Amino acid sequence: MLERVLSLRSRNSQINEEGDEDDESKTRGKHVSFAMRATNYISKIGFLWPCLLFIFFLILADIFVHYRNIMCHSSSFSSSSRDSFYSRFNFFGIDDGLDSDFGLLGVPWCRSKYGKTVEWTSKDLLKGLEEFVPIYETRPIKNNMYGMGFDHSFGLWFISRWLKPDLMIESGAFKGHSTWVLRQANPDTPIVSLSPRHPEKYLKKGPAYVDGNCTYFAGKDFVDFGSVNWESVLKKHGVTDPNRVLIFFDDHQNELKRLKQALKAGFRHLVFEDNYDTGTGDHYSFRQICDQFYIRGGGHSCFKDGDEARLRKKRRKFWEKAVDIGELCGEGEVWWGVKGQMRDDFNHSNKAISFAEHFQNSRFVESVLDVYWELPPVAGPSLTHQTRYDPARVSSPIVEDGRFGFFQRIGLGKFETSVFNGYTQMVYLQVSK
Ligand SMILES: C[S@@+](CC[C@H](N)C(=O)[O-])C[C@H]1O[C@@H](n2cnc3c(N)ncnc32)[C@H](O)[C@@H]1O
Repeated sequence: MLERVLSLRSRNSQINEEGDEDDESKTRGKHVSFAMRATNYISKIGFLWPCLLFIFFLILADIFVHYRNIMCHSSSFSSSSRDSFYSRFNFFGIDDGLDSDFGLLGVPWCRSKYGKTVEWTSKDLLKGLEEFVPIYETRPIKNNMYGMGFDHSFGLWFISRWLKPDLMIESGAFKGHSTWVLRQANPDTPIVSLSPRHPEKYLKKGPAYVDGNCTYFAGKDFVDFGSVNWESVLKKHGVTDPNRVLIFFDDHQNELKRLKQALKAGFRHLVFEDNYDTGTGDHYSFRQICDQFYIRGGGHSCFKDGDEARLRKKRRKFWEKAVDIGELCGEGEVWWGVKGQMRDDFNHSNKAISFAEHFQNSRFVESVLDVYWELPPVAGPSLTHQTRYDPARVSSPIVEDGRFGFFQRIGLGKFETSVFNGYTQMVYLQVSK
C-alpha cells in the first residue's frame, strides 16, 4: 500500500514537472476553504459522518483525476478505441501502474551468477531515446512487418552503440532492417550477417537494406551460426578477442542451443530479439528457461479454479499476446516452455521435455550468466497505444504512463501505433564459462 502511495506521488510530481497537468498550487486555496468549512461542520455535528463523507469525496476525486489523465493523454484516439483503451485500464481497478505487478505472479527473470548488472542507467536510456527518434525516422524499410519495430530497434542500437564492439554479427537478417540499425550504432564497424535468404533478394519487391561493410553468409553462401568456423572469420576481420564481438540473434532458434554455440566460440556479449514469455513463441527462450518456482513471478499453476487461471483469463481479454491457462498448460498440467515443449527453428521442431530437464537447463544458464538485462518497453501503453503484450509481464517502461508531454516532445508521438506492437522482451546477456 505504501509503495502504491509513493509511486502515485512520484508519478504526480513527474507530471507537474513537465507541466502536463494542472498546477497543484492553483487548487490549493479551494482545498483550504473546503477544509475550514468541514471543520466548522464537524464541531457542530460530531466526527463519524463527516469523516466518512470526507473519505468518500477523496475516493471520488481520485477516480476523477485518474479518468481525466487517461482521457487527456488519449486525445488523438477515436472514440471507440478510446473506450476500449479506457476499459483496458479501468478493468484492473484504479491502479494505472499496470506494470507494477501481475497479481500473485510478478515478472520472471534470469539470475546472474554474482548479481552483476548493466552499466547504463534509466537516464542513459532516456537520453538515448531522444537521440534515436530522428535516426529511426530515416529508416529505409518503413514497414518492417515480421521484423523489428521501434522498441527492439532502439534496444539493439543502444546496446551496440554502448558496447562499441570491434565486430557485429547478426543471425537472421530478413530485409536488412537490423543490419541498418547496427550500422547506425557503429558507422565504421564491420558486420557479419547470416541469413538463408540474402536481403538483396527483397530489393526486387520493395525497400531492403544491403550494407557495404558487411560479409554476408546468405543465399547460396548461407551457413548456420553453429557451423561457422568463427576463429577463421574473426581472423579475417583482424579481431583477436571474441570478447570484443557483439552477437545479435533474430533467427528464431532455440536460445539454449545458440548460447552453447556462442560459448563454444568464446563470445560473451549476446542479444536475443525474441525472448518469449512462457506459453508463447516458436522457440525456447531465456524467459521460458528461467521461469522456475524459485524465481519471483516464475513457476505456474494449471489449477483451473485457481487465482492464476482467473487472472490470466481477465488479462487475455485485453492484451492479445497474454495467455490464459488453457493456452499455457498442456496435457498433464505441463506449463514450462510452450505446453511442455522446447521449441526450435520457428517451431519446426517442438520436442517435449520433462520438468527435470527444464530445471537443469535453467541451472546451466545461471551457471554461465554474468548479466541478464531485458530491454524495457520504450513507453507505457497509454502512450504507445499498443494492445499486444501484457504490460504486467514486462518491466517498467522507459517513458512511464502519464509522461505524455515528454513522449510528444521527443517525437515518439508521430510514429504509427504498429511500430510499438512488436515488443517481446529483447534481452542482453553477458556470459562466461
Ligand atoms: C524475424 S526475421 C529477422 C528480422 C530482422 N532481424 C529485422 O529486424 O528485420 C528472421 C530471419 O531469420 C532467418 N533465418 C531462418 N533460419 C535461420 C538460421 N538458421 N540462421 C539465421 N537466420 C535464419 C529467416 O530467413 C528470417 O530472415
